[in-house]
Order: sequence, then C-alpha cells, then structure tokens
Amino acid sequence: MNSRRDFLKEMSTATLAFTAASALPAWALPSAQDSVPLAGEDAMIVRSARSFDLETPVEFLSSWLTPVPHFFVRNHMHEPSELGPETWRLTVAGEVEKPLTLALHELSKLQSHSVVNTLECAGNGRSLHRPQVPGIQWGKGAVSTARFTGPRLHDVLQNARVKATGKHVMFRGLDEVPGKVPAFIRSIPIEKALDSDTLIATHMNGAPLTKHHGFPARALVPGWIGAASCKWLTEIKVLDSEFVGNFMSPGYRFPNQPIKPGDSVKPEDTHVVTGLYVKSVISGPLDGSSVKPGRLAAHGAAWAGEADIVKVEISTDDGATWNPATLGPQKSKYAWRLWSYSWNANRGDYTIKSRATDSQGRVQPTEAVWNPSGYLYNAIDEVTIHVA
Ligand code: MTE
Repeated sequence: MNSRRDFLKEMSTATLAFTAASALPAWALPSAQDSVPLAGEDAMIVRSARSFDLETPVEFLSSWLTPVPHFFVRNHMHEPSELGPETWRLTVAGEVEKPLTLALHELSKLQSHSVVNTLECAGNGRSLHRPQVPGIQWGKGAVSTARFTGPRLHDVLQNARVKATGKHVMFRGLDEVPGKVPAFIRSIPIEKALDSDTLIATHMNGAPLTKHHGFPARALVPGWIGAASCKWLTEIKVLDSEFVGNFMSPGYRFPNQPIKPGDSVKPEDTHVVTGLYVKSVISGPLDGSSVKPGRLAAHGAAWAGEADIVKVEISTDDGATWNPATLGPQKSKYAWRLWSYSWNANRGDYTIKSRATDSQGRVQPTEAVWNPSGYLYNAIDEVTIHVA
C-alpha cells in the first residue's frame, strides 16, 4: 500500500511538470503549487490507496476550519496526472447564447467570493449502517470544513447568457478514467447553480486548491453532498433536464420511502441525494478511552447542510437525560458549529451521546435511515468511556 507521503511526493513532481507563464495568476505558478502541505499526513486514515480516499480521524473534527492536510479526500477514479494550469481550460456550453472557454487567468479576473462550507461525503458513516452495505467503509470522518474562494458560478453563467431552456447545470471532472469506467459527470438544478454561494472555487483556506481537492478549480455547491462539488472542473454544460449518467443513477440516489433494512429498491422509487442531513459527532473524548474522575469535557461538531444548527444536546447516561451543549462562537451559513459540554463524573463506565437539532426542526435520529448505498448516515453519535 502506498503511503500518503509517497503519493504526495509523486503528486508534487507531477504538479511541478509545467512551465510558468506571466498570463497565469500568481497563485497558479510553481512556487505556490510546490507547497503541498505535508504536516499531519500520516494521521489520515487510508480507506483506499488505489483511488486515494483519506478519512479525517475523528479527533481532528474539532477545529472550525480543517487544515488542508487533515481535510478528507474522496476520489472515485485517479487524479489527473497531467494538469497544467497553462493548458487547463473551462468550457461553458449547452443551453447558453454565448459559449465560453476560460483560461485560468481569465477565471481569476472575475470577482471572487468566499463561503465556509462543511463538505461531507454522502457515504460518510457507511460502515455504521446495519446491515452493512458495500462501498468504501467510511467511519465518521468523511467530513471537513474549509473556506472556499473563487468566482460565483452565477457570474460565469450570466456571462454565457443561459437560455430559458436551461434547467440543469452539468459538471465534468478531469479524472483519469480506467477502461470503460464512466467519467465523473453530475448535474445540479439551475436554481442551485445560480445561488450566490455556489462557486467555481480556486482556493481553500486562503491557498490555491491542492491537487487532491481539485486544482485548479472545482465546483463548490454548499450544503449539498460532496459529490455535487466536482473537482478538476473542465466543462460546464447547461442542460434542459437533469444529466443522466452513472453518478446520478444508479449512483447517489436514495429511496423515496423507507425500506426494510437489507431490501432492494427499484430505481424509479429513488431520488437524487442533494442537501445534507442534521448531524453531530463527538470528537473527544475518544471512544474506549479511560479518564480520571472529576470535571470532564466533551466536544465535537454539528452541521445541517443548508439549515442552521440551533442546538446540540448531550447525554452522559446513555440517553436517559439530555442537557444543552455550549455552541462555539464561529458560525457561517453551511458551516458546522463546534460544541462543548462539561460535567462531573465519578468512577464508572459512561456512554456519552450527542444529538443535534436544526433550524428546519430536524432532529438527529436514534437510528439512521437504512438504504442500499449507505448514504447520509446521521444517527445520534455516541462514545463509551471508562472513568477510573
Ligand atoms: N470530483 C471529481 N472530479 N471526481 C471525484 O471523484 N468526488 C466527489 C467530489 N468531487 C469526486 C469529485 C465526492 S464523492 C466528494 S465527497 C468530494 O469530491 C470530496 O471532496 P474532497 O476530496 O475535496 O474532500
């Protein structure tokens, strides 16, 4: 199995294999791309070394902005090996009056906007569904938060003059696709595409996107499952209806009605997964840890996609009683809220639970809705600790 260090070395060499030109924005020049951050690399959980899927350990879900080296990575295929910012182009076509082809320096001239977004993979928590379902067995850490910056998709679409027939906006990524595997192409409805917070992001936490996160540009569809935010974006096409393809169907669909765990569902009885559910995780104390009696503190994060977190409740007695946690001061639409809770604990074993409620009145359930692909796991989180 490749270590992340080897992989990053290979990637840095690949990203350096281009020549600088004055037409490029300064951030796309080699000096900026050379700085693939390495700190903390070995702490990530490797879920797939082949396509490079990295999970953030749960103890790192405790800073409002996740440092890029600790931000989870989800790739369906291989990252593009030859990605020169010089030759990279973004085409905008389909149901538009004026098709566009944008070079990086042209994209970087558009007004940029920042959105702090909690990005969560639809499959986060898949390993916790019972019965278990196939797919990458993510634990709790296919989720992270960053400040994404770049031009608004709205402005690019406005320049291309979308026709009245334009109903969906399709994104294509430059992934390297082995054999007959379909390319990573998905679409979002025009209303979400024109939302002033939907971006063509070029930066993450103030630095250019790293290759793992979609350099030089990715879609950023805030509050929606990570799959909506296409990396290594190279083509935008306005369509008159939803895109039909593997990553829209059978991929990323959810049963319209609850089904019995273990049952299958007909494609026509499913819908495309869009917004995230309400959810919280406990990032400390760690499950199975031993601590000394006295004043103890639990902490974690809670998010709800396009809705706001209104409260997080904590139980230290396996769900018998609940008390409100204190929410952290940092907040932004689409970003998680950090929370903390402290209490006095005597000797014994404790099951600590966290339960979030959002501004749409959604409450984190005791059990997640089972579905054949294991998407949107959001059951009340819990850890068991030993106080001695
Ligand atoms: N974009 C492309 N081109 N290829 C991909 O495999 N994976 C998607 C999305 N965008 C993917 C993609 C999925 S499933 C997720 S959860 C997010 O990217 C993860 O983004 P990250 O790797 O920056 O955390």
